[in-house]
Amino acid sequence: MEEKIRVLLSEKEVDDKIAELGKKISEDYEGKSVHMICVLKGGIFFTCELAKRITVPVSLDFMSVSSYGAGTKSSGVVKIVKDLDEPLEGKDVLIVEDIIDSGRTLSYLIQILKKRNPASIRLCTLLDKPERRVTDVKVDYAGFNIPDEFVVGYGLDYDQKYRNLPFIGVVEF
Ligand code: IMP
Ligand code: MG
Repeated sequence: MEEKIRVLLSEKEVDDKIAELGKKISEDYEGKSVHMICVLKGGIFFTCELAKRITVPVSLDFMSVSSYGAGTKSSGVVKIVKDLDEPLEGKDVLIVEDIIDSGRTLSYLIQILKKRNPASIRLCTLLDKPERRVTDVKVDYAGFNIPDEFVVGYGLDYDQKYRNLPFIGVVEF
């Protein structure tokens, strides 16, 4: 059966929010550089747009972890698929994620990245589903809190589809 996509957050709403987050982050990191870690693949669109809105110096690195299979449910298993290229020693790290759902992926990732001695480590997510949290994770910057619905677009996929949608949509099965 073909699924339908209903717009939850328009392109304009998302873009405005990213500009707002970029401004806030630029103020908070005044006088420092931000080392952005994009969590692939979902975080890619948000990372690029956010980086463009940050006015302090930015460096970028990429990491890929898997916690989801082909469906819509968390397996609870987190594995590093692609590690970072650069060391984190002494850097002000900002992890950039598409969505925090159960919190398992990010709580695991933060634990391992902390061991690499960054000067600081913060988390920025475009979307947050606080109702779904099973593992505690501190979200420093969140674009939108959304209800417990499966969303796609702006990097988020359903079975690798819809990542390129310029808005956030709910999948209706
Ligand atoms: P967590 O470990 O449960 O917090 O899962 C986070 C990851 O699950 C995200 O980085 C997404 O890749 C994926 N995910 C969670 N909710 C959704 C959703 O509504 N749509 C698409 N992917 C999702
Ligand atoms: Mg993801």
